[in-house]
Amino acid sequence: MTIALSPNASAPLAPPASIEPLVVPDRLLLGPGPSNVDPCVIAAMNQQPIGHLDTAYLAMMDEVQELLRYTWQTTNPLTYAVAGTGSAAMEATLANAIEPGDRVLVCVKGYFGHRLVDMAQRYGADVVAINRPWGEAFSLEELTTALAEHRPAVLAIVHAETSTGVCQPLEGLGAACAAHDCLLLVDTVTSLGGVPIFLDEWQVDLAYSCGQKGLSCAPGISPFTMSDRAVAKLERRRQPVANWYLDAALLRKYWGPERVYHHTAPVNLTYALREALRLLAEEGLDARWQRHRQIAEYFWSGLADLGLSCHVEESLRLPTLTTVRVPDGVDAKAVSRQLMADYNIEVGGGLGELGGRVWRIGLMGYNSQREHVDTLLHALAAILHQVT
Ligand SMILES: Cc1ncc(COP(=O)(O)O)c(C=O)c1O
Repeated sequence: MTIALSPNASAPLAPPASIEPLVVPDRLLLGPGPSNVDPCVIAAMNQQPIGHLDTAYLAMMDEVQELLRYTWQTTNPLTYAVAGTGSAAMEATLANAIEPGDRVLVCVKGYFGHRLVDMAQRYGADVVAINRPWGEAFSLEELTTALAEHRPAVLAIVHAETSTGVCQPLEGLGAACAAHDCLLLVDTVTSLGGVPIFLDEWQVDLAYSCGQKGLSCAPGISPFTMSDRAVAKLERRRQPVANWYLDAALLRKYWGPERVYHHTAPVNLTYALREALRLLAEEGLDARWQRHRQIAEYFWSGLADLGLSCHVEESLRLPTLTTVRVPDGVDAKAVSRQLMADYNIEVGGGLGELGGRVWRIGLMGYNSQREHVDTLLHALAAILHQVT
């Protein structure tokens, strides 16, 4: 019997035809991200949600904050996880640091530097961009000179440029920024959990990351932190932060002792992040950084055996993300497609000006394993043998 909902109700549109229950293919994710998630993290996520103001959840939030401080090596009280991907946390740092008209110096040496410029402009900053070729890093001298010349309120820089595979040295930069009364904002999306970071020692004022790379968590939840100096600027603002959802002045009332409702937290992603960070702390930062370094070196020597070279000189090369030069005459996309079709392996292609010139190979968090390197090198050798 059909029940009439209301005399004038229209019939609903027909459902889509034959959508089967979800089956996700099994992939080895060796691109720039996401990376495969630690099975313990999947197990942690795979539980019923609880209320986002439940005392058990609130305790979990405290643990996440504590673990994030350890992971970043900071004592910043304002450290939490943004409900969104790395770009949301990136936007959060800019939205909270910038007041319209502030001069922001963005150091661009790859694709994500350009994203920082774009976002900073949207928050009304007077953006000055300085550039280095894709595959190089800035020297401290260049940055100090630019600070003196442009006198910015904020200097923004990417620690681990995922588009080029370069690790930007940061020692000394925080002190130079502080001497110019400038806040240092650092993107640690492809470094956190895989590359040494000492946020307080380096005097970094604002930083963000993501879940899906070195932390071995799922995408959608992203670490965020502000130093006391950055918080002081936030408290002096003449205008509220232009982005309500990412406003740290509101969010700190939810993450802090007041626990004022702000938004419905991504509860299952918080379980995942807590477990990912717990596993990281159990392994220990030193051991984790060494693992990433050793596995990357093992990979680089395997590449050399295949006659392949890296785009970045070894002293600046990221252990988490390697840009491998595509040999002359080889179609980069065709090789990536074959890795996926024949081996279920995902690798990344070149971004921006490195499009078609490099493959981007991520060995991050859970995926930083010798076995995965062997699988990839074996597959690459077989494919390159066919196409060259
Ligand atoms: C250096 C860097 N910054 C920011 C982002 C943006 O993160 P998401 O894609 O999680 O939004 C990425 C993504 O890969 C990145 O590599």
